[in-house]
Amino acid sequence: MESIVVAVDGPAGAGKSTICKLVANKLNLEYIDTGAMYRALTLKVLNKNINVNSVEEIMNILGNTKIDLINRSVFLDGKDVSDEIRTPYVSENVSSIAKISEVRDVLVKMQRDMANEKNVIMDGRDIGSRVLKNATLKIFLTASVEERAERRYKEFKNKGILVSLEEVIRDIEERDRVDSTREVTPLKRAEDAVLVDTTGKSIDDVVEEIIALIKRG
Ligand code: DC
Repeated sequence: MESIVVAVDGPAGAGKSTICKLVANKLNLEYIDTGAMYRALTLKVLNKNINVNSVEEIMNILGNTKIDLINRSVFLDGKDVSDEIRTPYVSENVSSIAKISEVRDVLVKMQRDMANEKNVIMDGRDIGSRVLKNATLKIFLTASVEERAERRYKEFKNKGILVSLEEVIRDIEERDRVDSTREVTPLKRAEDAVLVDTTGKSIDDVVEEIIALIKRG
């Protein structure tokens, strides 16, 4: 059987990880969250008090860093950092790390190795346009800024993280700006990606929509 390789891109808070996890469960695909990899590196850089613009120091760190995605958890040098990488402190700084082309080259290679010879669904910003250009299906998942911010805000609230909705909106708008205007592989819909707008749709509906697209082949 031909392998299934699904690339999902889109802005922060579009629901990529929630949707991808559910699709992965239903179709028995491996889910690879590439944003988590940029976040894990960001966490390490911040913990070491290194300036997020210091490319040389960051590359040194990356050379001695192990990032593993195991059973939906993220391990940084063997430690489970799944919750830590979602804090606002990491979110606010991750775009600075993700815009460094040297960092991207290394992480893109890791991501391709992870996807090799497996049935996968991978989400990020440059998956359809760079990492998995030959994906069997490319999806660009999006939603309005307001709805994306509401979703993130609820997530934070459930986890007991104190932020205001205004802060979340500002963070999302700022990340959209940095992610779409950076020089290296900015967030943009690949020409052959199917646009799925999740504004006003239930999670289940979007999951079904994507499964139908995958099955259609
Ligand atoms: O999807 P996320 O919010 O966890 O992503 C975190 C950051 O990493 C976000 O600022 C965009 C960046 N990113 C990227 O540049 N390329 C990817 N493939 C995945 C994420």
